[in-house]
Amino acid sequence: MKKHLLGLKTTSKEEILFILEEAKKFKSIILGPQKKLDYLKNKTVVTLFYENSTRTKVSFESAAKALSAGTCAIAASSSSIQKGETLIDTGQNLDALLCDCIVIRHSMSGAPHLLSKNVKASVVNGGDGTNEHPTQALLDMLTIYEKHNSFKDLKIVIAGDIKHSRVARSNLWGLTKLGAKVTVVAPNTLLPLEVERMGCEVSNNLDKAVEGANVVMGLRMQLERQSSGLFPSIDEYHKFYGINQRRLNKADSNVMLMHPGPINRGLEIASEVVDGSQSVILPQVTNGIAVRMAVLNMVLGG
Ligand code: CP
Repeated sequence: MKKHLLGLKTTSKEEILFILEEAKKFKSIILGPQKKLDYLKNKTVVTLFYENSTRTKVSFESAAKALSAGTCAIAASSSSIQKGETLIDTGQNLDALLCDCIVIRHSMSGAPHLLSKNVKASVVNGGDGTNEHPTQALLDMLTIYEKHNSFKDLKIVIAGDIKHSRVARSNLWGLTKLGAKVTVVAPNTLLPLEVERMGCEVSNNLDKAVEGANVVMGLRMQLERQSSGLFPSIDEYHKFYGINQRRLNKADSNVMLMHPGPINRGLEIASEVVDGSQSVILPQVTNGIAVRMAVLNMVLGG
């Protein structure tokens, strides 16, 4: 099994299915009376976050604790990184502090890959720039897998700021490997060049793309990563690309509405559907603990 989890591009279909099956077992444990296992009781997991996070950071820490690992959280803003220490020096010092696994989030694409080549600890990517967010895609996939038990030929629409989205990229690698039919929807200014080479359909028409969809996934508009002028105004974007009830009514009657969070209500998604009966946005967050238990247990050989 893998020592690091850096992305779903480099994770096989079999490894993804293994993680999802393990996550299903871990979920039944954390939702049951026992809640805790001792699989990683001699291990230490460090979260090293150079960007803000609520869901990913808390769920990795909860997952490590549920497996009885020791945990330590480092926020870049309050560490020696502020004094000019390099990423590699920080990682090698964490090795010297006997950390077994480093979960890293970084604004630079490729930072986890660089770290993994220079430390003894396992490295898990908690989101790197616009590249990948593999555990988010795995928890999205678990949420779909629980309902459909397969991805084959499921019609999945991913709508929003595809260009800046590491969540979209990891989902595209993972979902297409498992046989889903994925369509990405955005204005051209928010689409990466040649995104169709990742095995998806591409559309500028959300009304048409959602017809018959089994899953509609909205993405956060990443204003902090954008240059100006990629869309004319919030109102206009919401009119053409916002996910709302009228649009969801065109999807399959059992459609699952997903979003990785954090949500911009009224921009990429309307409040009426965030809080509506088709939304699985909060169950996605709970699934994040189970998926991250499976990933930590895999990379640490628990
Ligand atoms: N989905 C996600 O990565 O959320 P956080 O930024 O809160 O971790």
